[in-house]
Amino acid sequence: MGPIGVFDSGYGGLTILKEIRNTLPGYDYLYLGDNARAPYGTRSFDVVYKFTLEAVKALFARGCELVILACNTASAKALRSIQQKDLPGIDPDKRVLGVIVPTIEKLAEITRNGNIGILATPGTVSSGTYDIEIAKFFPKFRTVSRACPMWVPLVENREFDSPGADYFVRKYVDELFAEEPDTDTIVLGCTHYPLLLPKIEKAVAGRAGIVTQGKLVAESLKDYLHRHPEMDAKCSKGGEVTYLTTENPDRFAESASVFMEQPVSAQKIEL
Ligand code: DGL
Repeated sequence: MGPIGVFDSGYGGLTILKEIRNTLPGYDYLYLGDNARAPYGTRSFDVVYKFTLEAVKALFARGCELVILACNTASAKALRSIQQKDLPGIDPDKRVLGVIVPTIEKLAEITRNGNIGILATPGTVSSGTYDIEIAKFFPKFRTVSRACPMWVPLVENREFDSPGADYFVRKYVDELFAEEPDTDTIVLGCTHYPLLLPKIEKAVAGRAGIVTQGKLVAESLKDYLHRHPEMDAKCSKGGEVTYLTTENPDRFAESASVFMEQPVSAQKIEL
């Protein structure tokens, strides 16, 4: 038995972990933030795939049987290759899940006119994963995507609530509406973005509903564990969370304590 692994390039996955813990508090979790190499969103397919595979292997080596890629960029660029090419050779009984499909599945319950706007990293947008997957689930929906390259650096550098962040938040939101004024639902397709939510809400100003992923991913994981009792049996249940980072652990702990609203301590690892 082992903890459920939760991986992100940096702090963003904490917005997913927080909701997963609220929904499934009894399980153990091992969080890994690759802060030393964040952001991933401007990196090539090959690099994101390599970094993500290294992180998944590190979590497997520490006892995880199930790993959630709490990162849209990694889910878009690495998940399928890891599931299809790597897992059979590493251990066919282990599982890696992403955050994009659990988000898309719920859109029909949220949108009224089928015009979906996606705000995400350049990597996620250029992969086309949201457009492709939404077209599979809901062929009548229309999608408009806008890459927001400045938003992850604002979060990673703890500038997410500074007055300077407002300019870049408004810029990308306005560009999205300029392209499709009838957008009624905006997906925050990057797990860092909920940390900018108050500013994003202000910029959207009621023009559309805003979808964050934490609760959707948490509900989807709960359902997955219910449907896969063999995996559930392999997830340890002590209610503990351990945090790993590839950067300075004190700095990580300080920021993560703010994001998680509770004291966090972290260990440094090399990937
Ligand atoms: N949190 C990530 C995501 O959901 C990635 C951010 C990044 O490293 O660029 O896409």
